[in-house]
Amino acid sequence: MAAATKDDGARVVDLRSDTLTQPSAPMKEAMVAAPLGDDVFGEDPTVMALQEKVARLLAKEAALFVPTGTMGNLICVLNHCRIRGSEVLLGNLSHIHVWEQGGISQLGGVHPRTLKNLPDGTFSLEELRQLVRGDNPHWPVTSLVCVENTHNMVGGRVLPLSWMDELGATCRELGLPLHMDGARLLNAATALGVPAARLVRDCDSVSVCLSKGLGAPVGSVVAGTKDFIRGALRLRKALGGGMRQAGLLAAAGIYALDHGLPKLAQDHAHVRTIAQAVSDLGSKVIKVDLEGVQTNILLLECDLKYVGPEQVCKRLSEVTEEERAATGKEVIVRILPMTASSVRLVVHCNISPEDIPIVVEKLIYVIREFERE
Ligand SMILES: Cc1ncc(COP(=O)(O)O)c(C=O)c1O
Repeated sequence: MAAATKDDGARVVDLRSDTLTQPSAPMKEAMVAAPLGDDVFGEDPTVMALQEKVARLLAKEAALFVPTGTMGNLICVLNHCRIRGSEVLLGNLSHIHVWEQGGISQLGGVHPRTLKNLPDGTFSLEELRQLVRGDNPHWPVTSLVCVENTHNMVGGRVLPLSWMDELGATCRELGLPLHMDGARLLNAATALGVPAARLVRDCDSVSVCLSKGLGAPVGSVVAGTKDFIRGALRLRKALGGGMRQAGLLAAAGIYALDHGLPKLAQDHAHVRTIAQAVSDLGSKVIKVDLEGVQTNILLLECDLKYVGPEQVCKRLSEVTEEERAATGKEVIVRILPMTASSVRLVVHCNISPEDIPIVVEKLIYVIREFERE
């Protein structure tokens, strides 16, 4: 089923998130046909096949299927931070810090210390060095560094490879392990045109989501050394993430990697088309930073003198009488506010090429309307 549906007769294009994808008929067929076993006994061949596939893709020794990206990150952080009083250095806009309920503290007693995320999703390596704790009984023990690629809150930006290499060298020098929240790592690899393994070469652990733009209904995979994954397996069990005949879901993940991964470039092209159209308008009300448009996420910046994020989202979700008369169409575009001044659009595999001009037309109509007000 496509994300463009009818809502009271209107055509709805839902760009709130790339988690909204519906499994395709062939994906469901692959799920039904998958050989299954009890994965808690280590006997599900489809789960094992997925884990081996992701380990190979990321050039890591081993991998583990987990229910969500949140659990994947939590497992990895807890696995690295086994000593009480551990501290993690991570971006102030990172998903782990902002959107995962402080699970690393709540459930693992791990103390977060934030580095200021720069507009490209990186942070200053100088600041990183400065925040590493010395040996002092008053302080927590710096135990891990986390990064996010692509970076969600800065608009799906890809961490520059040269920066990743410098970060890897810095962490090695400081003796700190490095975890990558790679929920959209394969979008980053697609955008850079480099193998995903290259992007995580210096990472001791990685968490990759199958249920975002790749289109699987559920699941993430964490990867690392065999030893790390042994620890991750124990933590997954403790967190209630042992999933028995999970091959049903792993089969969707395998299908997503085989069929969704090659299509990510199309999602990126769709986002660029939308971004370019908004940029070409040259509106004072809503702006786009074209340089920041790199993958399947688009941030539109509202000038708060004229309009705010909530107002933009609300207006795009309505069709007015005047609009119906002027355009002869009824189109609803669903998007979400992201920050105090921006809204976020996310394109995914259920958005078709035909949806894009429809989205563009609606956006342009609404932006012009705000300009007139
Ligand atoms: C960057 C990032 N990391 C982790 C997650 C968590 O994934 P999940 O929703 O599967 O827990 C998300 C979800 O949107 C995300 O955007």
